[in-house]
Amino acid sequence: MCGIFGYLGKKDPLPICLSGLKQLEYRGYDSSGIAGLSGGKIHSCKEVGKIVGLEKKLSLAPMRLDLAIGHTRWATHGKPTNSNAHPHFDMDTSIALVHNGIIENYDILRDLLKKEGVQFTSETDTEVIAQLIAKCYKGNLLAAVQQALPQLRGSFALALIHKDHPDEIIATARECPLCIGFDDQNTETIVSSDPNAFLSSTPNVIFLRNNEIAQIKRNQTDFFHLDRRILTKKSERIDSEFKVLSKEGFEHYMLKEIYEQPATVQKALLGRLDDENASILLDLQIPEEKLHRLRNIWILGCGTSAHAGWLGTLLFEDLVRLPSTMEIASEARYRNPILTNDTLVVAISQSGETADTIAAMREAKRRGSSILGLCNVKNSALSREADSTLYLNAGPEISVCSTKAFTSQITVITLFALYLARLKGMSESQMRYYSSELKKVPAQIQQVIEQASLLQTIAKKYAEYDDFFFMGRRYMLPTAMEAALKLKEISYVNANGCPAGELKHGPIALINERFPVVAFCSNIQTHEKIASNLMEVKARGAPILAFAPEGMESIAAIADDVFWLPPAIDPLAPFASTIAGQLFAYYIAKERGCDIDQPRNLAKSVTVE
Ligand code: M6R
Repeated sequence: MCGIFGYLGKKDPLPICLSGLKQLEYRGYDSSGIAGLSGGKIHSCKEVGKIVGLEKKLSLAPMRLDLAIGHTRWATHGKPTNSNAHPHFDMDTSIALVHNGIIENYDILRDLLKKEGVQFTSETDTEVIAQLIAKCYKGNLLAAVQQALPQLRGSFALALIHKDHPDEIIATARECPLCIGFDDQNTETIVSSDPNAFLSSTPNVIFLRNNEIAQIKRNQTDFFHLDRRILTKKSERIDSEFKVLSKEGFEHYMLKEIYEQPATVQKALLGRLDDENASILLDLQIPEEKLHRLRNIWILGCGTSAHAGWLGTLLFEDLVRLPSTMEIASEARYRNPILTNDTLVVAISQSGETADTIAAMREAKRRGSSILGLCNVKNSALSREADSTLYLNAGPEISVCSTKAFTSQITVITLFALYLARLKGMSESQMRYYSSELKKVPAQIQQVIEQASLLQTIAKKYAEYDDFFFMGRRYMLPTAMEAALKLKEISYVNANGCPAGELKHGPIALINERFPVVAFCSNIQTHEKIASNLMEVKARGAPILAFAPEGMESIAAIADDVFWLPPAIDPLAPFASTIAGQLFAYYIAKERGCDIDQPRNLAKSVTVE
């Protein structure tokens, strides 16, 4: 996690860095800081909390700088305090350094440095890097970095400056994203964790690969390897998709993004349903012949993206009759999976930067599998490294809590399942049937959104509880897990997703009248089964809220509250149910006064292991 931004050019670096850091705040908002050079000295300012705090502090005591590096932090080593905030320095404040990643052997290095008399002022792994580079420094900053960094284990993206190098920023990366941007005249250079933070002004981009170093000077950047080789790197021109971000009158980005979903699902479908030929049109770079002989699919993702992948496994089973498994990427990367030439790996990520997903994907690629990415962010690591990427086209998702990306992910994975199904012999009439059902989804979503005030009323009633079970069966199980994740993430409520039939194997012991059950009942095939499961929890006194399709009266007879959903076929029922779950979580969080768009302890992109 953490965002890095640095500027060397003819403009005042301070406002540019602050604006860049705001664009990167999705990577963490525990603290932020900026350091720069002027008059042969390092000056810095740090503040705990969001970047507006840093901005305010700087407005009271502005710094005049010739160049600057900045950081927005998601805490790994050490609490979110001022002393742990980046930039970090060596003992003499000769070096200022910002870091994204984790140094795994920092404690060993720290002990060694302490024995040599180095004093530390923070609990971070990052400070070790600054102190180590200072130890290696003999007048040549690049050489010091090349000497120090091979001693580090772990992952890093770094930007650093030295008081005796007034026109130089060094940037380097291993297993963490970092790129350099230039304007056409080469008068401004930016270093950033994400190109989207600067593309509007500097559209020429160079992505740093593992162990590469950029030595940024005025009007010129040279590239080296840690092993001291000189590198020739070509820049790519990337068109800016920069949009001024706005809540457009909504109280929170989360609510705005929930309301966008009829349109974003429509956009994910756009141009991909070919009714004339009863087929699906996908821009796939993996040969059709290879897809035809697939024997299994391995899906990778984390959090919400994993829930989308889980729904994908049911779709591949039901529509394609192809075995597939969903693997939580942080586990997958350390497994010894049986991947053959006939395995397709589907890596799902809104951001395309999630460290575990990228690492698991790389491992699968190393073992010879083809990778299909499902991603929202263009130019992300995932989209650059996958063999083929299907874009979600959902537009920027700002709220940390993922909403519209999820429904776009399940739209695209449904389309891909139908594409494979057709390749493997699904009839034209079946294809047309699914296509017409898919086209109903945006209207079903809209129907739920129009009842937002009813969900708000229901949420007010349930906002007083601290523990919940969310349960469902088949397509409603990942849907329930996703809804539970929404609630716990933004309301800090203990919400557990559980297969409805599994409760009686242990979890039901927790049930009492202060432990509501939220049941997702829209899987028609199993509706009688979930009704029985609801009777079991009702008998133990749990308040019950059911999300059920219109007409399922058996559920109304059991539940304390029912929110009626538009009917849909089982594989497409997750859409409407998900919107209801999102709105329910949103209104509970609002009722409880939580920071909805930037919940505590979280970041939008999880770029560390
Ligand atoms: O960018 P990704 O889709 O790879 O992110 C994965 C998870 O970190 C993410 O979905 C997370 O679980 C969300 N905050 C949930 O709302």
